[in-house]
This record gives sequence, structure tokens and C-alpha cells, in this order.
Amino acid sequence: MDVTGHAAIVTGAASGLGAATARALAAAGAKVALLDLNAEDAGTLADELGGVAIGCDVASAESAEEAIEAARAAHGPARILVSCAGIAPPKKIVGRDGPQPLDTFARVININLIGTFNVMRLAAADMVGLDALDTGERGVIINTSSIAAFEGQIGQAAYAASKGGVASMTLPAARELAKSGVRVLAIAPGIFGTPMLFGLPEDVQKSLGEGVPFPSRLGDPAEYAKLALHMIDNVMLNGEVVRLDGALRMQPI
Ligand SMILES: NC(=O)c1ccc[n+]([C@@H]2O[C@H](COP(=O)([O-])OP(=O)(O)OC[C@H]3O[C@@H](n4cnc5c(N)ncnc54)[C@H](O)[C@@H]3O)[C@@H](O)[C@H]2O)c1
Repeated sequence: MDVTGHAAIVTGAASGLGAATARALAAAGAKVALLDLNAEDAGTLADELGGVAIGCDVASAESAEEAIEAARAAHGPARILVSCAGIAPPKKIVGRDGPQPLDTFARVININLIGTFNVMRLAAADMVGLDALDTGERGVIINTSSIAAFEGQIGQAAYAASKGGVASMTLPAARELAKSGVRVLAIAPGIFGTPMLFGLPEDVQKSLGEGVPFPSRLGDPAEYAKLALHMIDNVMLNGEVVRLDGALRMQPI
């Protein structure tokens, strides 16, 4: 799909991978709605890109419904959705303070998995009602998994479960929406240089980068955005989870 002139929604667009994707989509000529819990930072970027910022908690049905409606009011129904909103708090199953509180696990699942599904269901409902393009496409949905879906580390039980869920729902979603010409894909990033990672001590960031076989560094969010734009462009890509990780296979710790 040529993105020019089409409405696009990016969640988690205030920061990191989502911000880079919003930039790339706007540069390619899409009308971008930037959804994020952090409406202030999303607003600053939206002003720069000529897009629209919408405060949204992806884990809330009501908040996401309102946000998709606001995006639709601004740009029309979106043909493109890239979901990047997510959190990655590490927590052992049994820590020094006892078993992991169930709420801690549930929060990660709520935001990363249910939040991704929540926005996908709403955006897909709009996409299936649009006219088909020359390619037969009505829309493209890209969700963000993680290599933790396949090699979760110690402390990542909740995160890995949430990202495994995002990976697993890619194929059934693509199969269901195929009849409407809506493609569904997921990107499973390795380790990218975003505020999510910049919270770690510098020596830890450095050693994480050095552990990547090639190129031996953190990924650049623009490289995630480049893959997202290729996925949107390439009509034959569908129902797949694509690792973007420099051949990194995470160790237990
Ligand atoms: N950075 C990495 O190395 C890496 C690796 C694999 C997967 N990922 C995934 O990529 C996605 C983006 O990560 P990032 O590194 O850009 O992180 P980030 O922290 O820079 O950005 C995440 C954004 O999501 C927003 N967000 C969090 N909870 C939200 C909610 N409930 N509703 C709406 N917005 C919410 C935050 O405000 C933030 O702007 C996440 O899903 C993350 O799990 C990141």
C-alpha cells in the first residue's frame, strides 16, 4: 500500500519505536494520529509532524473507542495501524518479597496484549468498511511483539507471555481479516535504543549492544520504522511475525 494521503494510527507514538514510526509515516505522506498515554509528548511530536495527538490508554475499551473516534474525526477511518504502546517492567515470579503480586502480571498483560487487541479490533472494524484499493487491500495492521516472545529472560514471565500473545494472534487475525483485504503482521524487535532501554545503566546498555551478533549495537528506532513501512508497502507480507534483532538470541539472564 502506498501510504500517501492515507490515515494512519500509531499507538505509543510519544516515544521510541512509535515516535520513529509516526515520523516515517508522516515523511512518506500519511496523515498520522499519534495515540499515547503521554498526550503531552505526543502533542509536541504531532505539532512537528502536522499530525494529531490523542491521549489514550490502550488497555481501556472506553479510552481506545474515544481515541479511534477522534482519529477518525480528524483524518477519516485509518487504513494503517501500527501498535507500539507497551511496558516492560521486570519482575521475578518469586522474588525476595515473595510471589509476584497477581496485579503486576495482569497489568503487563492488560497493556501489552489486551491493549494491542483492543486497538486492533477497533481499527479493523473501520478498515473492513472502506473501499478496496487497486491492490485489493483495505488496511494494514502491524503489532509489536518482541524476541522475548521466544527467548524470555528471567524476570520476563509477564512480558514474554504478553508478547507471545501478540505473536500468536497475528495469524488468526490475518486469516480472519483476509476476506476484507486487511493484512496483519507483527514485528519482534531485539534490543532497540529507546527510553525503555535508556532507563538501564550505561554499561548494561553497552553490553546489551555488544551481545548482538551483527550489527553489534542497539537497534535504531528508525530501523523499526523502516520495516513497518516496508510491511505496509509489500502486499505479499501477511500473517507473519518478523524478528528484527541482528541475529540476537537472548540468554536466560
Ligand atoms: N526497545 C526495545 O528494545 C524493544 C524490544 C522489543 C519490543 N519492544 C516493544 O516495542 C514497543 C515500543 O517500545 P519502546 O522501546 O519504544 O518503548 P517506550 O517506552 O519508548 O515507548 C512506549 C510508549 O508507550 C506508551 N504507553 C505505555 N502504556 C500505554 C498505555 N496503556 N496506553 C497508551 N500508551 C501507552 C508510553 O507512554 C510510551 O510513549 C513496546 O511494545 C515494547 O514492548 C521494545
